[in-house]
Amino acid sequence: MAVSTIEWADGRIRMIDQTLLPNEFKYIYCDDLPSTWEAIKSLRVRGAPAIGIAGALGAVLGIWNSAAKTYEAFAAELKSARPTAVNLFWALDRISRTEVLLAEALEIIAEDKAMCRAIGQHGMALLNENDTILTHCNAGGLATSDYGTALAVMFSAHKAGKQIQVYADETRPLLQGARLTTWELMQAGIDVTLICDNMAAQVMKEGKIQCVIVGADRIAANGDTANKIGTYNVAILAEAHGIPFYVAAPTSTLDFALETGAEIPIEQRAAEEVTKGFGKLTAPEGVKVYSPAFDVTPAALVTAIITEKGIARAPYTENLNALRDS
Ligand code: MRU
Repeated sequence: MAVSTIEWADGRIRMIDQTLLPNEFKYIYCDDLPSTWEAIKSLRVRGAPAIGIAGALGAVLGIWNSAAKTYEAFAAELKSARPTAVNLFWALDRISRTEVLLAEALEIIAEDKAMCRAIGQHGMALLNENDTILTHCNAGGLATSDYGTALAVMFSAHKAGKQIQVYADETRPLLQGARLTTWELMQAGIDVTLICDNMAAQVMKEGKIQCVIVGADRIAANGDTANKIGTYNVAILAEAHGIPFYVAAPTSTLDFALETGAEIPIEQRAAEEVTKGFGKLTAPEGVKVYSPAFDVTPAALVTAIITEKGIARAPYTENLNALRDS
């Protein structure tokens, strides 16, 4: 299944407001840069490829109305919305090289759709009949313009008639797993079970999981992978239980400028997302909170990286390079 997460519609950006899901399915429209920035910042649109697309389309809107003197000044403002997912930077840098901004932004969307399908095709070869997959956060259609990355593997396998089951981590503090991943998988008719983040070890120990598949926000040249906070925990648990840990991501998520994951900037989020995430105070008022939105899984814990160009395994520095140039 594919949802129309983000589209260009008559001179405006149309997107699903993901902060309202699963309670309400509503499209919102952005017709200028501030509203696009706000939509990215507050996770109305989220997931690395989708925010790359929002950035590219936001740049088109921004340039049409901008007071910024240069493209660089204008792009810097939009990039400040989310520092970790490299796709926002990638998309904004890419459109700066062309006169035809809108055409290039629309091309990013078309490529994104093809990328999702190709990741699904490559990745489904890693799944066996009756496998149960654990995933974290949401790397589905809602995080891209089409089929997703990690979830594309599941959608493709399901469509090809493979019996699979999925366990979805709820993904504190903003519950992308509980609100979005389960919603997408249920709509597609895939057997999904929701667990709290702290249940993954027990579920693995019970022998319920055959592999983990997650998305990525940025992958350094050596394969170190930034993804939603808690992904690193899952990777350690997978290693401890001898379960393969796969990352599914487009090559636009590879950042060859960074040798290792230590250089990936980690976004910090507001305390209220932890203490009052969905309106009810769940910790004492004024308590100190530390809330990194992403963590970095060392490449040594990654069994393989599934891209639209094929599957890369260690040594990643060599093999990701070869994949990029293929
Ligand atoms: O903060 P979010 O919801 O934007 O974080 C999303 C993730 O971590 C996804 O796993 C990642 O962007 C890959 S989406 C195909």
